[in-house]
Amino acid sequence: MKKVDDFRLRLGKKELVPIMTGGMGVDISTAELSLVAARLGGIGHISDAMVPTVSDRRFKTGFVKEKQKKYKYNVANRDKSVVQFDLVRLAEATKLHVGRTMEAKQGDGLIFINTMEKLTMGSPRDTLRVRLTSAMDGGIDGITLSAGLHLGSLALVEDHPRFRDVKFGIIVSSLRALTLFLRKSARLNRLPDYIIVEGPLAGGHLGFGMDWAQYDLKTIVNEIHQFLKQENLNIPLIPAGGIFTGSDAVEFLEAGAAAVQVATRFTVTKECGLPTKVKQEYFKANEKDIEVNLISPTGYPMRMLKNSPAIGAGIRPNCEAYGYLLDSTGNCAYIEAYNRELDKHPDEENISVMDKTCLCTHMRNFDCWTCGHYTYRLKDTSRKLPDGSYRILNAEDVFKDYLYSTEHRIALPAA
Ligand SMILES: Cc1cc2nc3c(=O)[nH]c(=O)nc-3n(C[C@H](O)[C@H](O)[C@H](O)COP(=O)(O)O)c2cc1C
Repeated sequence: MKKVDDFRLRLGKKELVPIMTGGMGVDISTAELSLVAARLGGIGHISDAMVPTVSDRRFKTGFVKEKQKKYKYNVANRDKSVVQFDLVRLAEATKLHVGRTMEAKQGDGLIFINTMEKLTMGSPRDTLRVRLTSAMDGGIDGITLSAGLHLGSLALVEDHPRFRDVKFGIIVSSLRALTLFLRKSARLNRLPDYIIVEGPLAGGHLGFGMDWAQYDLKTIVNEIHQFLKQENLNIPLIPAGGIFTGSDAVEFLEAGAAAVQVATRFTVTKECGLPTKVKQEYFKANEKDIEVNLISPTGYPMRMLKNSPAIGAGIRPNCEAYGYLLDSTGNCAYIEAYNRELDKHPDEENISVMDKTCLCTHMRNFDCWTCGHYTYRLKDTSRKLPDGSYRILNAEDVFKDYLYSTEHRIALPAA
């Protein structure tokens, strides 16, 4: 009976353990988590979502305070178009986050960064260029372009000296998205080095509509696999979304996948950035406690626990401090929803906004509990303690469980 450790991912000249831990913003996939994956020979993702905010928390920098001070005069203004990121500061924050992670790296694996393009940050192209360039400057091994895939992203950094040395990957949820990207990047003579195919059971934002349940990861992976064969394109395919056991992973690897990307199992590890209290919410969740909704201002469906404090909260938009979702005209769907409710209930102190959420503030505070579909199975991966809580796991144990388990068995932590 095969196990994941019987397979290897070949990426350029490197041979790796075929497990990638997925990017989870905001700092849910911490440097510590990614470093475990890399130390054990796989690939670990950090995330560049809200990186100045993350840097402040981790390295005691003052990027957010500085921006907030600069735009304080605008807090009560509904028009947020003046709010812009200082690109020099953004570069500093990214380099700090990436550089410190790379300095700490041990072992034969790699560290990649997940760059969520839907974080338009008031100036989509400029801020994305800075994020990509500074991650490369900071020594990152690879960049995964995710949610909101901009077809021209690679062209933004084609002049960077590391353009052909850093691994570039994309996350797609359909063959159509992939072919569009390939057509656009053909001019650069630079194909992606790997393709992550994310199915409908993943955590975070979904690349599907609210009809996500009609799609199936295996079917999409097969379709893309056939297409790549036809086109004679030898690009590693990496399925993601709902791969919960080592045996689930082996099924994909036997069918021709080069590796798998996994995340949910790691949300309840000590290295994961979620607060312990939130990890316990993930453990406790039952299937009926999880929903896919449309409250993210990005417009993409997002999966989360129904008891997330972010749902229905009516806080004032915090764009002067954060503003990661502002588009190029200074708009965000939450600002519109918030102002609409404010106009409807001018005398109420606390309003509730049901259709959208202030994603920046709530992700910053770990109050939007985004999760994968199989979060309700996490309780089967640990032991219940006498006080009713669950034992927090070690990332190394979870990684090794993926690597060595067979017959869908999950090794529980020692009693
Ligand atoms: C808590 C959480 C946060 C996530 N955040 C992001 C993100 O910021 N960007 C992204 O591209 N994918 C994100 N994902 C998706 C994962 O990287 C991964 O592809 C997917 O969840 C894998 O499926 P699994 O969780 O069933 O193993 C997130 C997943 C989880 C569970």
